[in-house]
Amino acid sequence: MFGGRSHILKGSVSLALVILILLVVILLVSEKNPFPTSSLFDIKSQFSPSSSSSVCNFAKGRWVKDRKRPLYSGFECKQWLSTMWACRIMGRPDFSFEGYRWQPQGCNMPHFDRFTFLRRMQNKTIAFIGDSLGRQQFQSLMCMASGGKDSPDVQNVGWEYGLVKAKGALRPDGWAYRFPTTNTTILYYWSASLSDLVPMNNTDPPRLTAMHLDRPPAFMRNYLHRFDVLVLNTGHHWNRGKIEGNHWVMHVNGTRVKGEYLKDIRNAKDFTIHSVVKWLDAQLPLHPRLKAFFRTISPRHFKNGDWNTGGNCNNTVPLSRGGEITGDDGSIDTTVESAVNGTRIKILDITALSELRDEAHISGSKLKPRKPKKASSNVTTTPVINDCLHWCLPGIPDTWNELFIAQI
Ligand SMILES: *[C@@H]1O[C@H](CO)[C@@H](O)[C@H](O)[C@H]1NC(C)=O
Ligand SMILES: *[C@@H]1O[C@H](CO)[C@@H](O)[C@H](O)[C@H]1NC(C)=O
Ligand SMILES: *[C@@H]1O[C@H](CO)[C@@H](O)[C@H](O)[C@H]1NC(C)=O
Ligand SMILES: *[C@@H]1O[C@H](CO)[C@@H](O)[C@H](O)[C@H]1NC(C)=O
Ligand SMILES: *[C@@H]1O[C@H](CO)[C@@H](O)[C@H](O)[C@H]1NC(C)=O
Ligand SMILES: *[C@@H]1O[C@H](CO)[C@@H](O)[C@H](O)[C@H]1NC(C)=O
Ligand SMILES: *[C@@H]1O[C@H](CO)[C@@H](O)[C@H](O)[C@H]1NC(C)=O
Repeated sequence: MFGGRSHILKGSVSLALVILILLVVILLVSEKNPFPTSSLFDIKSQFSPSSSSSVCNFAKGRWVKDRKRPLYSGFECKQWLSTMWACRIMGRPDFSFEGYRWQPQGCNMPHFDRFTFLRRMQNKTIAFIGDSLGRQQFQSLMCMASGGKDSPDVQNVGWEYGLVKAKGALRPDGWAYRFPTTNTTILYYWSASLSDLVPMNNTDPPRLTAMHLDRPPAFMRNYLHRFDVLVLNTGHHWNRGKIEGNHWVMHVNGTRVKGEYLKDIRNAKDFTIHSVVKWLDAQLPLHPRLKAFFRTISPRHFKNGDWNTGGNCNNTVPLSRGGEITGDDGSIDTTVESAVNGTRIKILDITALSELRDEAHISGSKLKPRKPKKASSNVTTTPVINDCLHWCLPGIPDTWNELFIAQI
């Protein structure tokens, strides 16, 4: 047919054009989202640290109502959640505090999806080392990663890290669990002071423990090479009552210290935080895949006293202290901020945003009768403790986890 050839030619030219346009479009799209399925670590390395940190401060932002919250059920996450922290089980009547998420100002914070999270953490180990607030964050992450669903396939691998209950101990020093589908390990080690605790050789009770302020806990030294993400915290054990109650005896340079360290325990805390950060920062070049965070202090909200003197935090109205943190000042926790300043350790600054949430502590839960341990004795009620330090779970520690996951 006349002109058939030129039609075919025209046809192949427009086909080539279409292919070209398609290629450009694909390129543009992939430019925006270069490797959608690659690991967190690969994605992170494509942004220069200076540009991402100058644009975004995760500590600034606002709490927003979110009908998709909480991320898991406080009734269902029995496998990981301590009963005392599961306010739904403990009978708290109001749950409006569960329905918020933190929206950082100018930061890209994707909604948490546990499957995406686990896939990105394939073959990786996330370690929390710290006090009971660190344990709350660990339990929160276990619930988030499992969706709070019964997960019989998750393996207890505590033995791999020496986390087994010693003879006569109340509980192990920590817990480690592995999600077999992605080979992701999440663990927690109890170290309330982030210092090395070594039993002292005294025969008279009470048995004393040397608290080496300038040495990180042995667990951290021994297992650091196995961690991909480490989240540290300390804070609420740095008071005379806890230190004397635990029979901890402060040591520096291998010898017992008195004077300035004991006069003001804040000095000892400051010294220890700076020591552990300095040690960790020096270790990081030997462990290039390790991302380390230091979480700032979790605020307490006792009013008119504390644990022992009937203090409480009985507000139940969310955001009655405001819902937003603005400005460009630094962290409220100047100790952690100054310790990590100029190091490779990132600050996980949760203090100000948690400060706004005085209604989300476990205090105020109407405690339900608890079955006693011995079947022979009668059902007793748990004593009412006005705990304005720990948080209901699900709750605020879920947000801490979202923040560090966004920053890995
Ligand atoms: C799990 O991850 C660890 C650490 O990355 C790795 O050494 C090990 O081979 C992995 N195991 C499996 C079964 O993939
Ligand atoms: C995880 O580890 C296994 C075993 O070492 C390896 O075959 C696999 O490629 C690793 N996957 C990732 C995403 O690193
Ligand atoms: C404790 O001290 C006594 C007496 O000095 C010594 O015999 C013993 O070996 C020491 N024990 C340890 C565990 O260092
Ligand atoms: C520990 O040793 C260092 C270096 O030798 C010294 O500067 C410091 O004053 C010592 N600290 C104490 C409390 O002994
Ligand atoms: C909350 O605590 C304050 C201070 O202890 C007390 O005066 C007030 O009556 C309490 N409010 C409720 C609703 O219990
Ligand atoms: C961080 O260190 C720099 C340089 O030493 C100093 O100018 C700055 O004030 C420090 N910032 C904080 C928050 O400590
Ligand atoms: C249980 O309660 C009953 C009635 O109050 C009492 O007589 C009994 O001694 C209690 N038993 C125990 C083991 O406390």
